[in-house]
Amino acid sequence: MNAAPPSSQHPTPSPTAFDPRGLVPDADALAGRVIAITGPTAGIGRALAMEFARRGAELILLGRSVRKLEALDAELGALQRHSGGAIVPPVLAPLDLEKALAGDYDAIADAIEKRWGRLDGLVHNASLLGQLTPIEQYDVPTWMRVMHVNVNAAFALTQVLMPVLRASEDASVLFTSSGVGRRGRAYWGAYAVSKFATEGLVQVLAAEMERTHVRVNAINPGKARTAMRRQAYPSEDLATLPDPASLTLPYVVLASAASRGVTGGSFDAQ
Ligand SMILES: NC(=O)c1ccc[n+]([C@@H]2O[C@H](COP(=O)([O-])OP(=O)(O)OC[C@H]3O[C@@H](n4cnc5c(N)ncnc54)[C@H](OP(=O)(O)O)[C@@H]3O)[C@@H](O)[C@H]2O)c1
Repeated sequence: MNAAPPSSQHPTPSPTAFDPRGLVPDADALAGRVIAITGPTAGIGRALAMEFARRGAELILLGRSVRKLEALDAELGALQRHSGGAIVPPVLAPLDLEKALAGDYDAIADAIEKRWGRLDGLVHNASLLGQLTPIEQYDVPTWMRVMHVNVNAAFALTQVLMPVLRASEDASVLFTSSGVGRRGRAYWGAYAVSKFATEGLVQVLAAEMERTHVRVNAINPGKARTAMRRQAYPSEDLATLPDPASLTLPYVVLASAASRGVTGGSFDAQ
């Protein structure tokens, strides 16, 4: 890794000066780190799961579809066979963020506590786009669903996992933002508002965690070749957009020791 981790001799990197783009993580940058990812079964989340596993992370895959989780598990198994066994088999944890109740969150926190006693990373990647519609006409139940999956569920999951995050020597919580969560754009409705809320949640939680080993940041992947992008821009040629696999390294940097001490930041992956 070409970024020195902070120590007592090095000042904590300021989030405004830090830029994860262009830093090249070590092949084993995430070795020994226990990291949970939401929405790992498609798009950017799937690319993150593959890259994090390749870099040595022990993954907890929080997905809403058991069938898709098992397919991803099989892909990681194939990767393990090709890489000579360096991949740690993931834990599959079905969790539908729209329907989950307190007991579902508690069960995940309890399982992590029992197995590892700590959590070194939490990547909030799952999101719903909802409709691209003027606020005046926005369907109210869709608004509620988008805000629930993108904000409320991410809050609830983070809160229930705080004890295991606090138990880590260096826990990185990453929330996924978007350009429309930094500057409002007409018709992006609940999705844009949910991403503004996400940026706010990052700032509030990061400030509260300032004197702990838990750091909290946001990352905007930028446009990527995924189902969500197709839903937002149906007439666009998806082939012209970056493959999600090409966007994963800034996430690895932010989840690894290379960004230790960086908190309260809002970063771009491209
Ligand atoms: N793609 C872009 O151009 C772009 C740009 C800016 C920001 N982003 C952000 O990047 C992140 C990933 O987006 P993406 O483009 O990869 O989207 P995507 O391909 O639509 O994938 C979204 C993921 O979220 C999961 N998900 C949706 N609803 C869920 C629920 N109720 N419970 C659990 N999981 C749920 C999906 O699960 P299934 O696999 O079961 O469908 C899927 O794995 C999102 O936070 C998005 O806002 C994307």
